[in-house]
Order: sequence, then C-alpha cells, then structure tokens
Amino acid sequence: MTREEKTDIVGLLNKARAMELHAISQYMNQHYNLDDMDYGLPAGKVKLIAIDEMRHAEMFAERIKELGGEPLTDRAAKVQHGQEVEVIFGFDSDLEEDTISVYNGFLARCREVGDSITAGILETVVAEEQVHLNFFENEKKHIERLGAAYLATWAGSSSATGLPAALGYVATRGGE
Ligand SMILES: [Fe+2]
Ligand SMILES: [Fe+2]
Repeated sequence: MTREEKTDIVGLLNKARAMELHAISQYMNQHYNLDDMDYGLPAGKVKLIAIDEMRHAEMFAERIKELGGEPLTDRAAKVQHGQEVEVIFGFDSDLEEDTISVYNGFLARCREVGDSITAGILETVVAEEQVHLNFFENEKKHIERLGAAYLATWAGSSSATGLPAALGYVATRGGE
C-alpha cells in the first residue's frame, strides 16, 4: 500500500471507530434505562452488545496504530436520552443496518487497495453487527405484534449477563 492509501484506510477506520464509540454510549444509556424500567432481560443483552462495540472500537484502534495512524475519540452522532421502550429497538435496528452498509463500503475500498487485513477485520465486525441487528429486529417485531403482553415477560426479569465478574483490572488484582 502507498502512504496515501494507508492514510485513506486510517481515515475510514477512524470513521468506523466514531460509529462504534457512538453505539457504545447509546447502548449503555439504553441499558441503564431498561434496567431502571425493571426490564432486566433486554437490559443485560443490550449491555453485552455495548461490550461487543467496545471490542470493535479496540480492533479498529489496533489496526489504525499498525498503519501508523492515531485512533480518534469522536462520536459519530449525539446520544439520544430517555428513549421509550417502544422506540429503542427500532432505533437500534436502523443504527446496525446503517453501520453494516457503511462498513461494507469501507470493505470494498480495502479490497481495492489490497488491504486484506483491514478487510478481514471489517468482515468479522460486519458479521457481528448482523447478529446485533437480528436481535434488535426480533425485539422490535415482538413489541409491535404483542405489545404489553410481551413487555410483561420482561418485567422483573434478571439483568444477569452470564459474564464472569473478573473482567476488569480491579477484579484481576484479587491475588495481590
Ligand atoms: Fe460494532
Ligand atoms: Fe452492533
């Protein structure tokens, strides 16, 4: 790759990173709100999806560094606060759909310049966004079709994510 092509790919990766940083904050906000509404089950799932987006932001940053660039910390959009439960899943479906389409465009550019490594990262990430999209779309449809009856299955449910607690720095210092 030429220097110009590397700069171009770093630019795309930073745009993708900004979309991830936006998604992280948006999903975290929804996670607290769903938890506050006592809809533990979707709150836990949305929290896990935010963690996936954190991994994506990291993957892009690592590749940016490899290409000699600097990972930026801007968000692609402002976070919407206080969304109703009837709004959240349609909103997130649109966000994931848009992300997949933008990343597919970036993927085409990576192939054009022969950057198979960035292309591979984007392929992995797009496949994960599709899993998110499937989840959000299913929830949106259930709420549309079943309404209160569906929400009642969430009320009072546990927000446990099934993740081990020892994920952070503090938790790993237990043996000290
Ligand atoms: Fe993502
Ligand atoms: Fe996603």
